[in-house]
Amino acid sequence: MPSNLSEAENFLAAMTAIAREAGALLMDYFHQHLKIEYKGEADLVTAADRAAEKLIRERIMQKWPDHDVLGEEQGLTDRGSEYRWYVDPLDGTTNFAHGFPVFCVSLALERRGSIDERIAGVIYDPTRDELFSAAHGKGAHLNGEAIQVSKMRTLQESLVATGFPSHKRHKNPNIYFYHQITLRSHGVRRAGSAALDLCNVASGRFDGFWEFNLNPWDTAAGVLLVEEAGGKVTRYDGSPFELNSRETLATNGLIHGELMREFAEIFAGRGLEPLPDPREYKR
Ligand code: IPD
Ligand code: CA
Ligand code: CA
Repeated sequence: MPSNLSEAENFLAAMTAIAREAGALLMDYFHQHLKIEYKGEADLVTAADRAAEKLIRERIMQKWPDHDVLGEEQGLTDRGSEYRWYVDPLDGTTNFAHGFPVFCVSLALERRGSIDERIAGVIYDPTRDELFSAAHGKGAHLNGEAIQVSKMRTLQESLVATGFPSHKRHKNPNIYFYHQITLRSHGVRRAGSAALDLCNVASGRFDGFWEFNLNPWDTAAGVLLVEEAGGKVTRYDGSPFELNSRETLATNGLIHGELMREFAEIFAGRGLEPLPDPREYKR
C-alpha cells in the first residue's frame, strides 16, 4: 500500500472500477426492452438489478472473500467480518424500467467496531459518466475533482429534493412535506434516485434533500459524500443519522436548521397551507 494513501483511498480505487463495470452492464440492459417484475404494487425489479448485484458480489468476493455484503437484491451475507459493504446495484429502478435516464450504482464500505464507520463510498451515474467518490476524512470528488456543498443560506432561495417510497406508499405523509417546502423554496425535485439526490447535495446542485424510509443501501454512500463535501446529515429532529434511521435530512448545513423547524411545524400540523381543491380549481 503506498504510504501516502489512506486505507479508505486504497479501497476507493477498486470500488471505482467495480462501480464502472456495473454501470456499463446497466447501460447494456438499458438499451434492451426489459421485462418489469414486481416486488410490491409499485415496487419494480428487473433482470438488470439482479445481474448488477451478482457482478458486484463476484468482484468483492474475488478481492475480499471474508467481507460481509448487504445488497438490496440478495440481502445480507454475514461472514463475521469487520468490513461490511452496502450495495444498491441499481438505484432508480422505476426510472430505468421506463427508459428515464436517471439511475446509478451505489457502493459503500463500512468498518465495524465499537463505532461503525463508513470509510468509503462510490456512486456512479453511467448515463452521464459521473463518478462520485468519498473517503472518510479525505473529502468528496466528482470524476476526480473535489466537490463541496452549496453556500445557499435560506430555504426561500434553495432548490431541494425528495423522494417517495415504492413500498407502503399509502402510509407515507411526504406529500404534505412536498407541498409545504415547494411553497417555501425555489422548488422540490423528485428525480427518483435517492443516491443521486445525495450526490447532487454533495456537489452543490441541490441545497438539501429529505426522504422517509430509505434503506441502508440507498444512503450509505451518499451520506458519506454529503458529509465529506462539508454538508450535514441528521434525522428530522437533528439527532444523529444512522443507516436504519428511516429519516434522512441532508443539507449544505446552512439551511439545516430552517428545514428542521419547518418539519417540526408540519409534524405538529401547524401552518399547513390547505391543498387546493381540484373541484374548486376546475370552476
Ligand atoms: C428507490 C429510489 C427512489 C426512492 C425510493 C427508493 P430503488 O430505490 O432511491 O428515489 O424514492 O425510496 O426505494 O428501488 O430504485 O433502488
Ligand atoms: Ca435504492
Ligand atoms: Ca435498487
